[in-house]
Amino acid sequence: MAISTEPTGAEPPAGGEPYPRPTASRPAGPKPTAMPAVPEPAQAQDWIVLSGVTKRFPNVGTPALDEVDLAIPRGSFFTVIGPSGAGKSTLLRVLAGLAKPDAGEVFIFGEPPAEASRRKHLGWVPQSPALLPWRSVLDNVRLPLQVNRRAPCQPRDPERILALLGLGETLDRLPAQLSGGMRQRVAIARAFAFAPAVLLMDEPFGALDEMTREHVAHLLLELWQAERPTVVFVTHSVGEAVVLSDQVSVMGKGKLSEPVDIALPRPRPEGIEDTEAFHGLQRELRARLREAFAAPGD
Ligand SMILES: Nc1ncnc2c1ncn2[C@@H]1O[C@H](COP(=O)(O)OP(=O)(O)O)[C@@H](O)[C@H]1O
Ligand SMILES: [Mg+2]
Repeated sequence: MAISTEPTGAEPPAGGEPYPRPTASRPAGPKPTAMPAVPEPAQAQDWIVLSGVTKRFPNVGTPALDEVDLAIPRGSFFTVIGPSGAGKSTLLRVLAGLAKPDAGEVFIFGEPPAEASRRKHLGWVPQSPALLPWRSVLDNVRLPLQVNRRAPCQPRDPERILALLGLGETLDRLPAQLSGGMRQRVAIARAFAFAPAVLLMDEPFGALDEMTREHVAHLLLELWQAERPTVVFVTHSVGEAVVLSDQVSVMGKGKLSEPVDIALPRPRPEGIEDTEAFHGLQRELRARLREAFAAPGD
């Protein structure tokens, strides 16, 4: 079954609170940086680390990933933005353990990605929701929990997650009876129900119209705020990146820029999109995107 090949969810980290820093108005502690000092072994369990990661595909001149260095602290919302072909999906696939780098190292909270995936620490939200058409909304969300019954995780209550995403009235409907935005919310609920420590989201709102994507992004933000998984998010939308993220890196031709700090309050206040701070961050990211487009390559 297609769905069972994807990482679907995870247990919270062993011991203590499921996710650190749940109440901070903004994540405290270390920030992601494009050129990390590799964290001390004692801290490794609190970081996603890529160090010198290069990935080439045969007959493609420019590497899909070109010596990427990155460190993302646990519990933060990190976004990669960049043009098509920049290497964003390859980055997520490397993090998920679905693609092996040719050089460099990757650790998810101290573990290689394949091990993190095996232990269901990783959740995946694809661009198209890939729901099973003959199963109800609730049964689609329950499916990974049923397929991975022996996975060592403490799943969330699927009905609660669906209610938080505004789908409490649709539990018995079939996917064909939902709008595109609703279907994508079901896919998000399916990933969250597993309580993954890390959520990898590859343009999850790419197929939605602008109004719907704003609405779904807002619901995702509320759910993230409540659950605080570490999110690595890929988008084409500058506004979406600023609304959602703690930090945003621009990717171009396999290179990842130094992250831009999104120093806006959490939870994001209503109307944040109309503030000068928001517009300033958008301008900065657009300038970096222009550089990424102009980067020399093949
Ligand atoms: N399986 C593959 N085989 C060959 N080339 C690939 C494969 N996957 C990606 N690429 C190439 O790697 C580069 C980055 O692709 P990708 O990570 O999908 O970019 P993005 O998600 O930013 O659009 C592109 O040049 C793409 O053609
Ligand atoms: Mg892609």
